[in-house]
Amino acid sequence: MSIVITVAQQKGGAGKSTLVANLAAAMATLRRVAVLDIDPQHSLARWNAIRLARTEPAATLTFSDLSGWRLAGELDRLRRDYDVVLIDSPPVIDADARRAIRGADLVVVPVQPSPPDIWAAEGTLKLAAEEKRPACLILNRVPTGSRLRDTTDHELQARGLAVLPAVLGNRAVFSHAFAEGLGVTESAPRSRAAVELRAVLAAILGMIA
Ligand SMILES: Nc1ncnc2c1ncn2[C@@H]1O[C@H](COP(=O)(O)OP(=O)(O)OP(=O)(O)O)[C@@H](O)[C@H]1O
Ligand SMILES: [Mg+2]
Repeated sequence: MSIVITVAQQKGGAGKSTLVANLAAAMATLRRVAVLDIDPQHSLARWNAIRLARTEPAATLTFSDLSGWRLAGELDRLRRDYDVVLIDSPPVIDADARRAIRGADLVVVPVQPSPPDIWAAEGTLKLAAEEKRPACLILNRVPTGSRLRDTTDHELQARGLAVLPAVLGNRAVFSHAFAEGLGVTESAPRSRAAVELRAVLAAILGMIA
């Protein structure tokens, strides 16, 4: 059975592309994975180009950047041919973001532990609710040694929002891996970031099963 995971959040820089790249890379050795980049900034297209040009090839991923009216058809095709489809979306709620949310089995909304990210997430969660799609928040760039995780978690749960029980810390290895066209599980498999990423992946898959 194929699953579609849309990573969406209207706030720029929340970690959408980082999360999609890392989830895709972590699953690529075990499943047929397609990445669909509907963000006109095309960060993931660049990541994928670096990945393809590597002298030491990384596990195969299929990449697509069709958007607009062709998006629904492309999603149907990818669903048929791949085990997992991961969609990276733009930092706006536009028609494409709505289509990507409509087609998702799960909408994952990265939030940094700060009020503007949380406020922006509400718009994305509202859209998921309108489209009757399950959605959850994931805390990203959580600073080590601060109480921000607990206080943010508490605040989000108090508002009745679904928060993934795994978080990603603020770790430079995420940006190093991205620059090499890799995920952290590939570039630094023993790092704290890779451990966190695997826990996040397991939690996401657990929400879909
Ligand atoms: N967990 C993390 N630790 C450290 N840096 C991170 C982490 N997650 C993301 N970043 C960095 O934050 C910046 C923004 O991340 P990213 O591009 O993934 O966000 P985005 O939501 O896709 O942005 P946009 O809305 O512009 O598409 C990047 O420089 C990325 O390397
Ligand atoms: Mg992005």
